[in-house]
Amino acid sequence: MDDGEEGEEYLFKVVIIGDSAVGKSNLLSRYARNEFNTNSKATIGVEFQTQSMEIDGKEVKAQIWDTAGQERFRAVTSAYYRGAVGALIVYDISRSSTFDSVQRWLQELSTHSDTTVAKMLVGNKHDLEEIRAVSVEEGKSLAESEGLFFIETSALDSTNVRTAFEIVIKEIY
Ligand code: GTP
Ligand code: MG
Repeated sequence: MDDGEEGEEYLFKVVIIGDSAVGKSNLLSRYARNEFNTNSKATIGVEFQTQSMEIDGKEVKAQIWDTAGQERFRAVTSAYYRGAVGALIVYDISRSSTFDSVQRWLQELSTHSDTTVAKMLVGNKHDLEEIRAVSVEEGKSLAESEGLFFIETSALDSTNVRTAFEIVIKEIY
């Protein structure tokens, strides 16, 4: 990416994908508004939030898109991915079926994305350690074989949420 002029702004599109109820909407609300909702409803269609951060003294804005994990609630897929330069692929460490779906989400992302995308594999609900079903090693090894960053997060207790987004945004920048 070009260095640009002093004071110039950057706006990057980042998408969050993954099965229903893995915590995509709560990761976004935790990052953008420091909010968590215990009874959040399944997302219908698409929502997005714009979040600013400073890198090397420049203001960088990420427009972060969140959509439904459930097929029947999803908006037009190609429009969702268009222009995205970053992606968080989220699973729930307490439900292995959501980890098994990661390959399918990666496939959909690569089918629809038009440029190189910085990708972070996110094992969310790190706070549910006592009912963990996907080991850290499994997450790491999938990330390594697919060329993804990897992190475990908790939208509930805030662990690594900011870091997950900022690693992707910094990589794009
Ligand atoms: P869809 O919109 O249907 O795709 O789901 P989603 O991925 O947006 O999930 P959502 O953020 O709505 O969270 C689903 C449920 O998981 C809610 O009951 C949340 O409170 C809960 N949840 C989200 N993140 C965490 C977390 O880090 N830990 C725990 N224990 N629960 C979480
Ligand atoms: Mg949602």
